[in-house]
Amino acid sequence: MAETFDLTIIGTGPGGYVCAVRAAQLGMKVAVVEKWPSFGGTCLNIGCIPSKALLHASELFEEASHSFPQLGIEVGAPTLNLSAMMAHKDDTVASNTGGIEYLFKKNKITAFKGTGRIVAAGKVAVSGDDGATTEIETKNIVIATGSVSATLPGIEIDEEKIVTSTGALKLDKVPENLLVIGAGVIGLELGSVWARLGAKVTVVEFLDRILPGMDLDVAKQFQRMLGKQGFEFKLGTKVTGIEKTDAGLNVTIEPAAGGEATTLSTDIALVAIGRVPFTEGLGLEEIGVECDKRGRVVTDAHYKTNVEGIYAIGDVIAGPMLAHKAEDEGIAVAEILAGQAGHVNYGVIPGVVYTNPEVASVGKTEEDLKAEGIEYKAAKFPFTANGRAKAMLATQGFVKILADKATDRVLGCHIVGKGAGEMIHEAAVLMEFSGSAEDLARTCHAHPTMSEAVREAALGLGDGSIHI
Ligand code: FAD
Ligand code: NAI
Repeated sequence: MAETFDLTIIGTGPGGYVCAVRAAQLGMKVAVVEKWPSFGGTCLNIGCIPSKALLHASELFEEASHSFPQLGIEVGAPTLNLSAMMAHKDDTVASNTGGIEYLFKKNKITAFKGTGRIVAAGKVAVSGDDGATTEIETKNIVIATGSVSATLPGIEIDEEKIVTSTGALKLDKVPENLLVIGAGVIGLELGSVWARLGAKVTVVEFLDRILPGMDLDVAKQFQRMLGKQGFEFKLGTKVTGIEKTDAGLNVTIEPAAGGEATTLSTDIALVAIGRVPFTEGLGLEEIGVECDKRGRVVTDAHYKTNVEGIYAIGDVIAGPMLAHKAEDEGIAVAEILAGQAGHVNYGVIPGVVYTNPEVASVGKTEEDLKAEGIEYKAAKFPFTANGRAKAMLATQGFVKILADKATDRVLGCHIVGKGAGEMIHEAAVLMEFSGSAEDLARTCHAHPTMSEAVREAALGLGDGSIHI
């Protein structure tokens, strides 16, 4: 007799595991299905967590080389122990994925190890590595199978020389040259890791700008900062082929608009041109679950697919491919299944690039506001005028706030600076409560903090910033 559950979730990334915990808290009998040896999905195993471990370690390595002497710390040139740095990353991953195992036990969630396939609404078959199949009977199913790296036609990934983010997180030596294809979040974060450790990084980007989707003014200034860190950018350029040689790789590039091809040689090429939803082997076609042209599972506003009892969340559906977006959808769908009013506010999902300085953004960009014909006002405050930033040698960057011209309601906030990824939440909370720039400007901020720059930008939208 197959065991019966209220809810079975396929995939234990941030979408799936968070959904499982909330559903169990709301009284449901929950099962999860995971094909990887450890829980936590892309985020914990090969994404957010390992990349941040390497970003933190490499940032300190860089600071020890360049900032310490100015602070009066003489330690000589630091030496890199790459295998110890990788061990720190692996320990961080293990500790986080182990944490999910604990959460599943604590919340009495049953975990099935193997590949899940939806046989019919209410029925999931799990094939284990040993070839055995288990059938699960379930009232509802949530698809949380995430995404995988997009690839370029004709370019074969070997995860050693031609790598995706997965290979770039475990190179066994610092390459002399790293060619990054795609100036998006992965390219700039992992490019930063290897640049700090000594690689010469060249980024080839199809568009004529970096970080598409981010505020253009922010992206332009950030590109200049990365340039000073040694990044070379080839914008408006596409890669048309990669040839493997004994010495490394010969990469053929062309202007995006067409034109003469040239060749670059490099040791490693990182393909970071986006991610695509993953639904292989789930049996969606057989049971008639609708997907769009980009392979994303189509849902309504309540995460319900066109098949009764089957829902989907996270990277496998439309929207930004971010861990916290997947988590919020996991909570929302669990609440909806429990008869509550689960909801995600897609207008207030922060985005952070964990480079140095960090780039963080929430709400509308200036380009969005112009395209939507919304009359807005903008104010900027530079960290060069912030006392704490000076003390920490962190004066690069600024805070920019965009507010409705008539109502003063904050519509967007964009920060380039050390700790931007933490500071952005002050704007996110304000926006969640439909707050105005004046609300922010009148809120007392501790001194000396980097966050005072956020208040100063808000002051700039009223009677004026104090310190510029
Ligand atoms: P995933 O995390 O992709 O999890 C899907 C899970 O489903 C996997 O465990 C997979 O094994 C399992 N699965 C798939 N099919 C089946 C099946 N048939 N049966 C059983 N199991 C199955 N986002 C951020 O917000 N911040 C960051 O800093 C950040 N950094 C990133 C860095 C990198 C290098 C990468 C690649 C991504 C990063 N992301 C980051 C994006 C983030 O990882 C994803 O948005 C997030 O993991 C999506 O969560 P998910 O639950 O939808 O899917
Ligand atoms: P991305 O969508 O951020 O960037 C891809 C870049 O590649 C774009 O600039 C695009 O114009 C460019 N591109 C596309 N095709 C190209 C081609 N043929 N040649 C040259 N350039 C090309 O995707 P990325 O960086 O791969 O990241 C995937 C996802 O993972 C993103 O959606 C992101 O949200 C998520 N992620 C989030 C992180 C964070 O929140 N800090 C960190 C890493 C990933």
